[in-house]
Amino acid sequence: MNLSGNFQPRIKIQSRNLNLWYGDHQALKQIDIDIHQNKITALIGPSGCGKSTFLRCINRMNDLIDHTCVEGQMVIDGKNIYDADVDEVAVRKRVGMVFQHPNPFPKSIYENLIYAPLKHRQVKKGNDCDELVETSLKKAGLWNEVKDKLHTPGTSLSGGQQQRLCIARAIAVKPDVILMDEPTSALDPISTKKIEALMMELKESYTLVVVTHNMQQARRTADFTAYFHLGELVEFNTTEQLFTQPQETLTSDYISGRFG
Ligand SMILES: Nc1ncnc2c1ncn2[C@@H]1O[C@H](COP(=O)(O)OP(=O)(O)OP(=O)(O)O)[C@@H](O)[C@H]1O
Ligand SMILES: [Mg+2]
Repeated sequence: MNLSGNFQPRIKIQSRNLNLWYGDHQALKQIDIDIHQNKITALIGPSGCGKSTFLRCINRMNDLIDHTCVEGQMVIDGKNIYDADVDEVAVRKRVGMVFQHPNPFPKSIYENLIYAPLKHRQVKKGNDCDELVETSLKKAGLWNEVKDKLHTPGTSLSGGQQQRLCIARAIAVKPDVILMDEPTSALDPISTKKIEALMMELKESYTLVVVTHNMQQARRTADFTAYFHLGELVEFNTTEQLFTQPQETLTSDYISGRFG
């Protein structure tokens, strides 16, 4: 990587010696990874290798699952989010999440967007909310399609539109990191392309970490790629390097389709 000139890589998120157990099953083993700010990092690997588990460690969503135990550090902007003095709700505000299946609340498009910001007292009812709804939908590339029906149910949109609504909902809370767990695997190719284009735009303002089973998607969108296998981080590199010159046999077997 060229470190000369103006390019100053900034590490947004660092996991250090991160271990996670579900009961007595260890699902993550000593994960050390540096995630760059304003870049897209893809997490790839066979089913069950721990991608979603690792993603959920970045916003402490695993805390919501019984019998989980996390050891080690997940440092965001220099602070370990597992420290005792950290409020996990505040973490989830800064680190938004989008899931595989679009999951709008059973409420209007408008209410989907203002629900959390109102709860967190980030906005006041009225103009403030109207503005937030418009800017979030614009950032998610959905405004033109829904501006005349903001008060219809979010669930009445197409799957691809619902996923962009969920992205808008994540953005509305003003996070600085957005996690996406297989955000396009339930979508058709055209909706997928829109989300991928949106991801490329969003990285200007946010740090994105995206789980994908679609290696072409990782190659098209991600700056960095991490390959997980059986709870271990086997390889982490620029996407270009990882796909063209994998250092580990496990990685090359996976990306060449020999297993997974
Ligand atoms: N809530 C849970 N309770 C117990 N074990 C779990 C739980 N969630 C995941 N696991 C286990 O932890 C391991 C990692 O699962 P995880 O869901 O992180 O994998 P993944 O890489 O996201 O897989 P996929 O590609 O299928 O989504 C698996 O062995 C899985 O069975
Ligand atoms: Mg998963």
